[in-house]
Amino acid sequence: METVTSVKDFQNFLNERRSLGEEIGFVPTMGALHDGHTSLIDASVRQKKTTVVSIFVNPLQFSDTEDLDDYPLSLEKDEETCLRHKVELLFCPTRREIYPKELPELEEIGEIGKTLEGESRPSHFQGVATVVARLFEIVGVSSAYFGEKDFQQLMVVNELVKRHQFPVEIVACPTIRQIDGLALSSRNVYLTEEQRADAPVLYRALMEGAESVRCGEKKSENLKKLISDIVINESKGDLDYVGVVDSETFTQLDSVLESGKQIRILIACNFGAARLIDNIGVVIP
Ligand code: PAF
Repeated sequence: METVTSVKDFQNFLNERRSLGEEIGFVPTMGALHDGHTSLIDASVRQKKTTVVSIFVNPLQFSDTEDLDDYPLSLEKDEETCLRHKVELLFCPTRREIYPKELPELEEIGEIGKTLEGESRPSHFQGVATVVARLFEIVGVSSAYFGEKDFQQLMVVNELVKRHQFPVEIVACPTIRQIDGLALSSRNVYLTEEQRADAPVLYRALMEGAESVRCGEKKSENLKKLISDIVINESKGDLDYVGVVDSETFTQLDSVLESGKQIRILIACNFGAARLIDNIGVVIP
């Protein structure tokens, strides 16, 4: 496996592989690779002849008060992980390669990026959309793998592809969890022992919520209250939001839930320095 830093070298490699008729699987990341990322890589390796990974910690998706400077970096370990999982090329561009202009123009992605996580982290999804658009422009025809753990990000990326008509197929992969239900995230390293013991409450509360829907709960207010109460009563986490959305359109469902609809329940909660998000899908009976 090779590691390249320039767009030109990356594109030369991709063009060569395409000229051999090989399909490209692309896994964009910000490094600090864990089993969630390797599940995306493994899915790509299973489905595509060539798998490439990018590592770029995108400054545009962090606000001034967020953890950009402390974001976990582990390039050597990440290279070993990629090699072990049969990645063919690792693209680790410099900031200049991704954003040749000092102030890149931000992508507009509309309402999907403004609610829930977008409300708590204004401009976050614009930053994500801007880097993903740039990466898709560079990579070209491919399939790109994203985790459902960041469900709202996945919806933003789908919207971005639609708006730009990028020749990129988005492949959504299921959330990978630890044995006690905690969703894998690069941010879990910030949890103290006590917070780590508390954090699985998120998935527990989501599962209870999904079960109540399956048992007939039709009011999203009740559903949100049930989930919030579990998190507040069973942990020291500082709950930010519980949201209920239509899985296809990402519109928030504030009142009665319609039978047959696929919904997603999303949650965000701060455990000290770690802001954790999670979600679960359920069909209204
Ligand atoms: O999910 C991530 O790691 C990032 O948001 C992404 C998609 C690589 C864009 O920087």
